[in-house]
Amino acid sequence: MISRKLILAAAVAAASLSALPVHAEQGDWIFRAGAANVDPDTDSDEIDVAGLVTLDGVDVDDDTQLGLTVTYMLTDIFALELLAATPFEHDISVNGVGIEAGSTKHLPPTLTVLWYPFGAKDSKFQPYIGAGINYTYFWDEEVDSELEAALGVITEPVTGSTDPVPADLDLDDSWGFSARAGFDYWINDKWAVNAGVWWIDIDTEATIETELADVKFDVEIDPWVYMVGVAYKF
Ligand code: NI
Repeated sequence: MISRKLILAAAVAAASLSALPVHAEQGDWIFRAGAANVDPDTDSDEIDVAGLVTLDGVDVDDDTQLGLTVTYMLTDIFALELLAATPFEHDISVNGVGIEAGSTKHLPPTLTVLWYPFGAKDSKFQPYIGAGINYTYFWDEEVDSELEAALGVITEPVTGSTDPVPADLDLDDSWGFSARAGFDYWINDKWAVNAGVWWIDIDTEATIETELADVKFDVEIDPWVYMVGVAYKF
């Protein structure tokens, strides 16, 4: 025979389950995963190649990777969010002359304070905005053979040869501010559909290193990062 206590316990459990809010609240952890596109809005200084020629600067193309965020709800309306991702890889081209300069990988971990204006309301639609700080780490910078060939032509007056000039590329790490907006649409008390955007101030000094000279120039990458995916809270 099923005891009354058991029925009561089941009823209480069912009631508490259905009473779970469909939005996040203080103490919740939210994991978000989705496709993250880093779309640079590049502004590059001109490149003075050892006084021989001045190039128009560089452009950086976009890349999409798996984006991951972890969020902790400090209160019902304020949260702390960390953005992580699988490494982004971007091709870099030289403006004006249409040659490939090279490529770089980077990771842009970003820590953001989020504000949920509807956070205290039991609403399925939960938008948020935020501000934070970004650290971007570049590695595996590579120089394209097209740039090495161009350097060979440019430096002929010095070297007496148009042979390609072997070069390395180095990009300094960047610290900068970020801005954030997005929303969760809660389907049930665990899962939500998520979409959001970051603007990140990423500025770097690029150095093209050759045996003849080092060429330095500043590049503002300042990307928009778009992410669409799902959120899970517990
Ligand atoms: Ni900038």
